[in-house]
Amino acid sequence: MFITNDIKYIGVNDHEVDLFEGQYVVPNGMAYNSYVIMDEKIAVMDTVDARFGEEWLAKLEKELDGRLPDYLVVQHMEPDHSANILNFANTYPEAKIVSSAKAFGMMKNFFGTDFADKQVVVGEGDTLSLGKHVLTFVTAPMVHWPEVIVTYDSADKVLFSADGFGKFGALDADEDWACEARRYYIGIVGKYGAQVQALLKKAAGLDIAVICPLHGPVLTENLGYYIGLYNTWSSYQPEEEGVLIAYTSVYGNTKKAVEELAEKLEKGGCAKVVVNDLARCDMAEAVEDAFRYSKLVLATTTYNADIFPFMREFINHLTERNYSNRTVAFVENGTWAPMAAKVMKAMLEKSKNITYTESGVKIMSALNDESRAQLDALAAELCR
Ligand code: FEO
Repeated sequence: MFITNDIKYIGVNDHEVDLFEGQYVVPNGMAYNSYVIMDEKIAVMDTVDARFGEEWLAKLEKELDGRLPDYLVVQHMEPDHSANILNFANTYPEAKIVSSAKAFGMMKNFFGTDFADKQVVVGEGDTLSLGKHVLTFVTAPMVHWPEVIVTYDSADKVLFSADGFGKFGALDADEDWACEARRYYIGIVGKYGAQVQALLKKAAGLDIAVICPLHGPVLTENLGYYIGLYNTWSSYQPEEEGVLIAYTSVYGNTKKAVEELAEKLEKGGCAKVVVNDLARCDMAEAVEDAFRYSKLVLATTTYNADIFPFMREFINHLTERNYSNRTVAFVENGTWAPMAAKVMKAMLEKSKNITYTESGVKIMSALNDESRAQLDALAAELCR
């Protein structure tokens, strides 16, 4: 893959992974990106997942065309990128390893060695000259681990952005960028909005023509679009006007209420209505939708004097990612002592800038005239 005259792609596509990072379904696989910068000195940017060591080293060898690499730059120590560091060091024993002090500590934990004889420790603003290309390192703690650095090459105006601007999906998947980048961002980095904002501020001072992330496609055009989405996501602002109804239903009565509410919202002119059955959908997709839209309806049953487990899991995903700045409504169902709304509201207690609707819906087993009237009032309020 052509990136610039001197920068070559040597990453791999993974269509075998069952769950990325042990929890995310990736129907179109995953890409572990790696790059090589060919200059008077040669730098390799990160390695790839353990299962692709041979393929990666073969791609690297082809690009090297008989030369030897001088540096391996390790931007991030999560094993999807770091697993082949030892493999690389054994294959190219003369090459130095360039990384943050924290990353070398992690190498000791992962590999039993911190490569003391090969270390080049870099921090904020440090540079490494390859000849024409001078790399500047920028610390990016918690995007997505504490040791992360990103790297700017001023010669070709390339930002190597580590996990930032990554997405789910192999590079041969033909799919919308934003959909799988959003699910990836919210799921994996969503908790660290403040740190992403800090990185965006540093990046704003750089003249960037190309973004080379560790997952997903290399971004070469319309960079303002991608940076704008990252700004929206990391500042916890809704991306779109719309309502997500997230629900669980045991015997179908709560589901019926949700279906009627969705119909009323659509008839009432709500811009966009999305419905997710939390027991059956991809939980990461539902979490992504909650952060995407401006309004959220939580509908669930009372269960063990608490709420249905999938709803508890969902709300936990939201609160641990700093869910805020949204409108929230509750629909509760309970046959003898409904208390789901109270439990859900308590779970959101620490969430900032949540506006709760005045209308709520209480179903005592199945919809009746009273609860239907509450649905009407809620739909009217949400569409207002
Ligand atoms: Fe792609 Fe945080 O590793």
